[in-house]
Amino acid sequence: MANYDVIIIGSGPGGYVCAIRCAQLGLKTAIVEGRETLGGTCLNVGCIPSKALLHASHMLHEAQHNFAAMGLKGKTQSVDWKQMQAYKDDVIGQNTKGVEFLMKKNNVDWLKGWGSIPAAGQVKVGDEVHEAKNIIIASGSEVSSLPGVEIDEKTVVSSTGALELKKIPNKLVVIGAGVIGLELGSVYSRLGSEVTVVEFLDAVTPGMDGEIQRVFQRTLKKQGINFVMGAAVQGVKTKGGKATVTYKLRKDDSEATVDADTVLVATGRRPYVDGLGLDALGVERSERGQIKTDGNYATNVAGIYAIGDCIDGPMLAHKAEDEGMACAEGLAGQKPHVNYGVIPGVIYTHPEVANVGKTEEQLNEEGIDYKVGKFSFMGNGRAKANFASDGFVKLLADKATDRILGAHIIGPMAGDLIHEVCVAMEFGAAAEDLARTCHAHPTYSEAVREAALACGDGAIHA
Ligand code: FAD
Ligand code: NAI
Repeated sequence: MANYDVIIIGSGPGGYVCAIRCAQLGLKTAIVEGRETLGGTCLNVGCIPSKALLHASHMLHEAQHNFAAMGLKGKTQSVDWKQMQAYKDDVIGQNTKGVEFLMKKNNVDWLKGWGSIPAAGQVKVGDEVHEAKNIIIASGSEVSSLPGVEIDEKTVVSSTGALELKKIPNKLVVIGAGVIGLELGSVYSRLGSEVTVVEFLDAVTPGMDGEIQRVFQRTLKKQGINFVMGAAVQGVKTKGGKATVTYKLRKDDSEATVDADTVLVATGRRPYVDGLGLDALGVERSERGQIKTDGNYATNVAGIYAIGDCIDGPMLAHKAEDEGMACAEGLAGQKPHVNYGVIPGVIYTHPEVANVGKTEEQLNEEGIDYKVGKFSFMGNGRAKANFASDGFVKLLADKATDRILGAHIIGPMAGDLIHEVCVAMEFGAAAEDLARTCHAHPTYSEAVREAALACGDGAIHA
């Protein structure tokens, strides 16, 4: 048994970043993790492995579609699935070991095993009870399935199973056109699967800017992904390693089926708090199961805090990280702040999709007068050279003050380009501030500047 200033339960991006910050601020810190490796969902079965497969399959797509045009000729690439999995596993290993190294470097103790909280100030791991002045729950989230759909991680898989399929399916049906469905659907589509996405709503990626939703879906369709929209999945039946998905079209209640070798269930995630003993402690939760916290991440029980996917807000690694740092800084007596209005979202398909701030729909709903500056990557020299001219940058700025209110990008490296706008928004910048900043040529970033110019007197290359 040991005494700590802070014990953090869960070593995902929320937990491990929080642990490092606590240690940097002089707090004696331990982290509890039940998995074999540190890094949580993100490093083990989320962000990192999915990005490895997206990268590998994008490279294949480039080789198949664009190499010959650049004069790169020779043997056609083929897929060694086992090797691709080995590459992905190696990337996971490098990252999880990296977190382990960071824990050691910062003198954070890893208490191995599943933790519970028998009482405020105590964390039990295995048979040992450790004392802590503060406990931070960073236990993350888990897949939430649908009634009538049983995930066996073989024929009917969650994202976790989809990252380690035994073979590339001939026919993949994805339930849900959200971030997971479209990223992993893209992977298998590029690797040769016939992919059909069945989505309840009439647009992909709920909550995103409507114009981006439409262009994004059209782009994915052009790449060969089939969509059944406005369709509520009723159930999945499996037989002999095959599956049949039944759905009902919302417009006329008609029922139809689609066959698959593999079904990916990507209909959202829910907070994971099993085994922590929250009910006995009286820790309050929302109807959706999220741990309720105040502005300092404190729960209603003194000395117990919560951050990341298990509390309210977007389920994103960087949101969890920022909360982890802020929670640590708060415990050390600082006055941290997370700006929830400037949390970017990125979908790592090709082209990438990125957004920050308000959508046009939100601005209309809020009655805010705004102007739109738009620039197509067709007018960007670098994008043309790189076969990446699909897409555009859209900047939204206040009509009266020119202050940037949001940005929506579909195009090459959108996930990197968005951060220029994030920084500008954090500084309360106007579109003109971006427009007057010199941008190197030839870069994709020029498209962001051009969109900012389009908010004023006009883009140059439009
Ligand atoms: P988690 O990462 O879920 O970590 C929680 C950890 O706590 C787990 O390791 C769990 O084992 C441990 N734990 C839970 N209970 C206990 C206990 N009682 N005792 C001990 N340990 C416990 N987000 C992005 O921003 N970008 C992406 O590209 C992205 N891609 C994703 C792809 C997929 C396929 C998935 C599923 C998710 C993706 N996400 C992405 C979301 C991202 O993974 C999560 O938002 C992020 O991991 C949340 O971090 P967290 O620290 O709150 O929880
Ligand atoms: P999601 O919430 O993004 O999408 C779920 C989709 O399923 C929605 O479009 C919803 O309308 C649809 N759906 C729900 N019920 C349905 C039904 N019965 N029939 C048909 N469709 C139905 O959830 P997803 O994709 O599972 O991702 C979970 C979380 O993981 C997200 O919150 C996301 O933030 C995070 N994530 C982030 C990534 C990134 O940042 N690049 C990548 C992957 C995941």
